Amino acid sequence: MHGIAHGAATVPAAATSFAGRIVAWQRAHGRHDLPWQRTRDPYRLWLAEIMLQQTQVATVRPYYERFLARFPDVPTLAAASEEEVLTLWAGLGYYRRARNLHAAARAVVAEHGGQFPRSVDALAALPGIGRSTAAAIAAFAWDVVAPILDGNVKRVLARHAAVEAVAGSAAAERTLWRLAGERLPQSSADMVAYTQGSMDLGATVCTRGAPDCARCPVADDCVARATGRSAELPRARTRPALTERRGRFLLLTHGADVAMVKRPGQGVWGALWCLPELPLDASDAEIDAIAARFGARALGARQTLADVRHRFTHFQLTFATERIACARREPHAAEPGVLWLALDAAAEAAVPKPIAQLLRRGAADETSAS
Ligand code: ADE
Repeated sequence: MHGIAHGAATVPAAATSFAGRIVAWQRAHGRHDLPWQRTRDPYRLWLAEIMLQQTQVATVRPYYERFLARFPDVPTLAAASEEEVLTLWAGLGYYRRARNLHAAARAVVAEHGGQFPRSVDALAALPGIGRSTAAAIAAFAWDVVAPILDGNVKRVLARHAAVEAVAGSAAAERTLWRLAGERLPQSSADMVAYTQGSMDLGATVCTRGAPDCARCPVADDCVARATGRSAELPRARTRPALTERRGRFLLLTHGADVAMVKRPGQGVWGALWCLPELPLDASDAEIDAIAARFGARALGARQTLADVRHRFTHFQLTFATERIACARREPHAAEPGVLWLALDAAAEAAVPKPIAQLLRRGAADETSAS
């Protein structure tokens, strides 16, 4: 059935072609129990691919289930507030994904009548969906024959064809997209297994540090293996050293409540709730001014909590937290974008992970003190 016609003769593609071997391997040895493999609903597939863009399968699983329980379809997600979407995303990181997800759901409703468009180009025009993610969704949902090129697939192809260009360079991208396009299965019936198999191979066999060539279905004609260069390929780009940044936050408490601010929509932790940030050299007067925004007055006693370190893609943040109990709280004095929340509720809100951890510790202290 899945054959390539060579003149009069038909040879079984599965026995020989790159795609055929990956398809057969996926069916026998690939992953089959991932939650997003039980559906052909483009909404569910899209959500999985977005979550998996920068986050590992094991971390994604519980978030995926929770998110779907609350937002089972596009209209529900489109009708939600950004705040609610961010709350369910909190802890997964790369929050731009959540803001784009919400915007894309609204675009699907507004521009496509609530149905995901079936072409790779139309999918890729939605916020947060690149060419590779669009192809993965289209393959999984509708058997569309289009190449994916995520990090795992790049590594497999770079080794198999011994691509010499440095990873991430324009030359490497061009070559890898061409290779990915050339190696597609002939039959759309193979696209689900091929697409998943390409991901599975990179994730479980052709790994970055320890490729297990004995288990690889395309080892026979892998150029990196034949020439002993699996460890060198793909060629790593030289990365600039990670920049160090320092930050300072204010943990203003009133009883078991904590003062929170909503961060600007763009930038680090965009649109999340957070502790008020302080300039590194902030004076007591500046701290008093922040407290005043919450209708509160800081008491003198200030406790500096242990430094917290948090890794972002391009920098390392180390921040100090000043914990200050507030004397008075006027019920209606707070501005928009500032809020008093119970410590334990704040830890569960749309807040960055290191801040949630700090709040949980604060809540624990609160409980043990009372
Ligand atoms: N990473 C990106 N997409 C994936 C998928 N569909 N299954 C497993 N890991 C993935």
